[in-house]
Amino acid sequence: MNLDGIDLERVPEHVACVMDGNGRWATERGLKRTDGHAAGEEALLDAVHGALGLGVGWLTVYAFSTENWRRPTDEVRFLMGFNESLLVRRRDELHELGVRVRFVGRRDWRVPKRLLRRMDETIELTKDNTKLTLTIAFNYGGRAELVDAVQQLSDEGLALTEENIEARLYDPEMPEVDLWVRTSGEYRISNFLIWQAAYAELVFLDTFWPDFRRQHLADAVAEYQRRDRRFGGLSE
Ligand code: IPE
Ligand code: IPE
Ligand code: MG
Repeated sequence: MNLDGIDLERVPEHVACVMDGNGRWATERGLKRTDGHAAGEEALLDAVHGALGLGVGWLTVYAFSTENWRRPTDEVRFLMGFNESLLVRRRDELHELGVRVRFVGRRDWRVPKRLLRRMDETIELTKDNTKLTLTIAFNYGGRAELVDAVQQLSDEGLALTEENIEARLYDPEMPEVDLWVRTSGEYRISNFLIWQAAYAELVFLDTFWPDFRRQHLADAVAEYQRRDRRFGGLSE
């Protein structure tokens, strides 16, 4: 990974990635869409290595949205099984790399029990690791997350404040997103971390997710460092 021009003292603390373009990657090659999802596994692991090499503390990836249930049953079923087997295949490796794995999303009846079990096992196995927190957004929607948080506040009879909402998001320890990346040439948010990314720097790449490698992450960080983050104020 070429880190020329990157200031390692100013690396984003939290990078979020919309892993998009698996289907188009596969279609372009005359393969099935699900082959594209399978090919995305290598990209995910490479992104993890990139985050570790750069010193990014939090990497959050969008694996399945609350809207993805609209896909054909076969594709949804593949994604459930694939994500379960990915955890089994990769959790020891992630653990050895010092990665703490977490999940955000709704744990509703549509998510297979077996997958939920693998998630819990992976969380438990890696919970004391400190090099990188890899959060997998699964059955995740930013609107659902806000509804769930506000519902809790209402049940508790608490005031609607930003602080109270933040404390009830799926992972209250998750820091705000600094750098938000989407692959595949689509320029939309698609309901990903809408609260946490309120002041994120957005970077859009034409690369399809299965072709994403750690250098793309480094280049996105370089782009991030060229931005002037003002948070509504004025430059220094
Ligand atoms: C992203 O790739 C993976 C998931 C949404 C699960 P897509 O499956 O959306 O691929 P495209 O966007 O159709 O190419
Ligand atoms: C967003 O991609 C969800 C994931 C990458 C998991 P989609 O492909 O589902 O988003 P849209 O439909 O293009 O907005
Ligand atoms: Mg897509």
